[in-house]
Amino acid sequence: MLLADPDDAAIDRYLTKSAVVLALLGEQLIGVYVLCPHNIVSAEIKNIAINEAYQGQGYGKQLLAHAIQAAESLGYQELLIGTANTSFGQLALYQKMGFRLFEIQHNYFSFHYPEPIIENGLQARDRIVLLLKLAEDRANRPALALNQITLPVQSVTHSLEFYSRLGLGTIVLSLPHYARLSCHNGTTLSLEEDENASGKHGARIYFESEQLDEMVAELENRGFRFETQPTDQSWLWREARLIDPDGHILIFYHAGEIRLNPPWRVKI
Ligand code: ACO
Repeated sequence: MLLADPDDAAIDRYLTKSAVVLALLGEQLIGVYVLCPHNIVSAEIKNIAINEAYQGQGYGKQLLAHAIQAAESLGYQELLIGTANTSFGQLALYQKMGFRLFEIQHNYFSFHYPEPIIENGLQARDRIVLLLKLAEDRANRPALALNQITLPVQSVTHSLEFYSRLGLGTIVLSLPHYARLSCHNGTTLSLEEDENASGKHGARIYFESEQLDEMVAELENRGFRFETQPTDQSWLWREARLIDPDGHILIFYHAGEIRLNPPWRVKI
């Protein structure tokens, strides 16, 4: 980190509130970046460095791309990075990665650093801050909504009977190969014939109900045998488990707000 910022007191200050990401090549530590939140919309890469022996080989670019991706997936709308007026290579790199010039902090280096920093034959005086708009980038991408799952099943007729009894409505019937059912919130579940279908190691399907216990009791009254009864889980969801005719694991649960906003939701 001292390669990127010779002020170890400043490093200590921002490290306490930042995420530090290490770049490993095999077991060799070759680089680092520090992502520091400013507020809920904006974060700054306070420090990025590649071990001198590995510079100029594309690793810095990869690390910067990782930082951009991380900031984006953490929900930030803008990412800042600052460097000295004399750091021509860094200024070129940041602009190649999409950052635009944002602000000049005049005399920043003269004021904050006791020793003069000389680079490319010039004294570093001003700090150039560059900005990358993440939200704009995201706004140009198609919004994705997960609302349809196709389950491979050995017998569509048999599985259709099972899922209809659970309460799903049939909207497409193309027996014996295919059927599509709907849940009350508009999500659809298709059943597709596949003689090798086995749900044992596949994805789990979650059906949420606010009246979980009553719903499970009612389904049991109608002949469904749950593997596990509604139980509070350590991840704060209440869950009961049912296996479908092909061994797919169905979880009946209630999580409410906790699904999208668990106490351990990713934030920095
Ligand atoms: N003009 C034009 N392009 C340049 C110049 C220049 N003077 N110098 C570098 N570049 C380009 C390269 O051509 C390359 O782009 P390309 O792949 O399109 O050709 C890119 O910038 C550099 O790519 P990498 O090889 O991935 O960079 P590297 O692995 O060396 O990492 C880094 C860059 C992190 C700046 C590294 O050199 C380093 O650790 N330097 C010392 C520490 C430092 O200065 N860190 C940044 C301080 S600012 C801060 O931390 C917020």
